[in-house]
Parts: sequence; structure tokens; C-alpha cells
Amino acid sequence: MRLSNCHNFHDFRTLAEQKLPGPIFNYIDGAADDEVTYRQNTDSFNNCDLIPNVLRDVKDIDLSVSVMGQKLDLPIYCSPTALQRLFHKDGERAVAAAAAKYGTMFGVSSLGTVSLEELREKHKNPQCYQFYFHKDKALNKAMLERAKEAGVEVLMLTVDSITGGNRERDLRTGFSIPFRLTMAGMFEFVRKPAWGIGYVMSEGFSLPQLNKHINMSGSPMSIGRYFTEMLDQSMNWDDVAELVELWDGQFCLKGVMSSQDAKKATEIGCTGVILSNHGGRQLDGSRAPFDQLAEIVDEVGDEIDVIMDSGIQRGTHVLKALSLGAKAVGGGRFYLYALAAAGQAGVERALELMKAEIERDMRLMGVSSISELSRENLRFR
Ligand code: LAC
Repeated sequence: MRLSNCHNFHDFRTLAEQKLPGPIFNYIDGAADDEVTYRQNTDSFNNCDLIPNVLRDVKDIDLSVSVMGQKLDLPIYCSPTALQRLFHKDGERAVAAAAAKYGTMFGVSSLGTVSLEELREKHKNPQCYQFYFHKDKALNKAMLERAKEAGVEVLMLTVDSITGGNRERDLRTGFSIPFRLTMAGMFEFVRKPAWGIGYVMSEGFSLPQLNKHINMSGSPMSIGRYFTEMLDQSMNWDDVAELVELWDGQFCLKGVMSSQDAKKATEIGCTGVILSNHGGRQLDGSRAPFDQLAEIVDEVGDEIDVIMDSGIQRGTHVLKALSLGAKAVGGGRFYLYALAAAGQAGVERALELMKAEIERDMRLMGVSSISELSRENLRFR
């Protein structure tokens, strides 16, 4: 499989599987428990149908949206995801550059492998910073101040990872950070030489968002252990209210699913909520964000920006979410497989295909700007 033969999400996934050592591919591809939520996230889009209108002059199409105080040329952004230099030697650098080319937002994770400062200096497109709330309050404060200083536009506090999800694929492969070449890893290196050469020849693995504050050079740690041992499980609404005040800017909670929580987020001054179940990687059996979207939009949509991620693979998925009232959508795996498949060129192709799909589907729907989409365009089965 070659990049030019990749025409959709599934093709990128196939190519990523060919390129990556098994443990790394399965880290991206896997989810929690029986992976029911992971599958349901995408399946839920099939519970509703689009109703197109015709004869509406759709010669010029405007895909831009305003969300979290940012103007994006596309209604989909690259959600923050961890460890990107494990997937391709250029990691976050490739994703940020591709997102810049398409005028959309990219995320940098607390577990990112390139510093948020480097990326903020290099590109003009909006950057969001995915933040984990650590046990060490001084560390949290220092991390926030650092992101503010760097000029990061949007803070995204992940609230669905108070403990590690049960990712059985990772348990089987022994996937951990920092990624080390174990005996099994050596075997993978031989099987995937191009990945191995890229990994070995590029700068050493590091987590620059955390390295400056905590020593991560100890024994390898599973993602589950990082969540459980480093993050503060007593985190509550008062803690977040303090963070919101300290940040004093665009602040959204990633992983809100109940309307009660969305309301609370509004009350403490958040400017957005992201409906998300972390791509099915945390609580298996939790509801798909798309199924929950209308309820949250009805509750808080007039007051703050409602965004969703998890399960988006197609332009029509984006249009369905926007029709229900989401201001924008995020995607993770859709660009991660592409990153693993071909670095920046891969992510650019994933964004190009997504853009082309959304544009084509808008024409077929009879709408020329995102603001024309409404619930009139949808019927649930
Ligand atoms: C994950 C975290 C790190 O899902 O976002 O693996």
C-alpha cells in the first residue's frame, strides 16, 4: 500500500499497520475492555440520516468556523494526542505543519514529544494544549504559566482520565513510556526497518512538556500507571475553577458527557466543553459523543462552545455533528494513522481528503457555509 492509494481512514490505518511495530500500532488502534465504545463511536453516526436540499447555488463553499475564539479554515482540528514521535520521527512537527497548511488548530499533549514552545514559534495557526491535572499543584501552575508564556491559545483540560483505561492490547504487548527496545522490540525493529531506522536516527525520546518539571527517566511506565500514579484523583470542580481563573483565557474541558457537567463547566467560567470518551480508550460502555450531542447543545449551547470528538472518520460525520450544533469537531486517529503512514505528507493527505469530502458533501447537501447546517438536515431513525 502506498500513500497515493490511501483514499480514506481505513487505507491510512492499513498503511500504518504495515509501517509500525505491533505494540505501537496497537497503542493507537486499541481501546478499553471489549472496545465496544470505540466501535460505537463511529457506528452512532449511522443512527441518523442526512436530508439534502437541492438547487441552492453551491458554487462557492466556505468551510470556516469560529470556535474557542479561533477562526479555523476547516471545521475539524487535530486533537491533542500523546507520543507522536513514536509513530513517525517527525511526530508533532509534522502534524503542526500540516495543520498550519490547512489553517486548522492542532493540539499538543502534556505527553507530547516536541515542546509546545517550538511549535508555537514555528506556526501561526491556533494551538491547544492538552493538560493533565497532576498531584503536584506547583507543577500544574508551572505548566499553565509556561503555556501562557508561549502564547498557546486554548487550554484543554482532560477530565476523562482520572485513572488509566483498561487497554488490554497494551497489557499484552507491554507498551510503555519511555518506549524501549526490548527483545520483542528488537524483533519488531527487524520486521519494520524503516520505522526502526527513523526512530534510532532521530533525537532521543523525551517528553518536553513534563521533562522540565518531573523526572521521567526512571523505569518505563505504562500509560495506565502514569494516569494512576501521577494524576490527582481527588481533582474536583473547585480545582478546575482555580485553573480557569489562573488561565484567564479560552479554557475547555475535554471528556464531558453529562448535561449536569456541561452546566457546571459553564458556571465555573469554561468557554467550551468537548464531548469525548477519549476515542473509547477509557470507559468502555460509555455513550458515543454523537448520541449525546443534542442534549448537551440544548443545555449549554447558547452559553459556551460545544465541540465533540471520538469516532470521526468521514466528512459526513463532521457534517452530522455540526448539524446537531457542534461548533467544530476534533479527530485523533484520522491523522495519527496518516502520520505513521507517511509523516507530514500523510497528515496533509488526510486533511486534504477530509476537506474534499466535507466540501463535496456540503454541495450535495445544498449548503454553502457551515452556519447553514441545522437539525432540519437530519432525521434520527
Ligand atoms: C491515551 C492518552 C495518553 O489515550 O491520551 O493514550
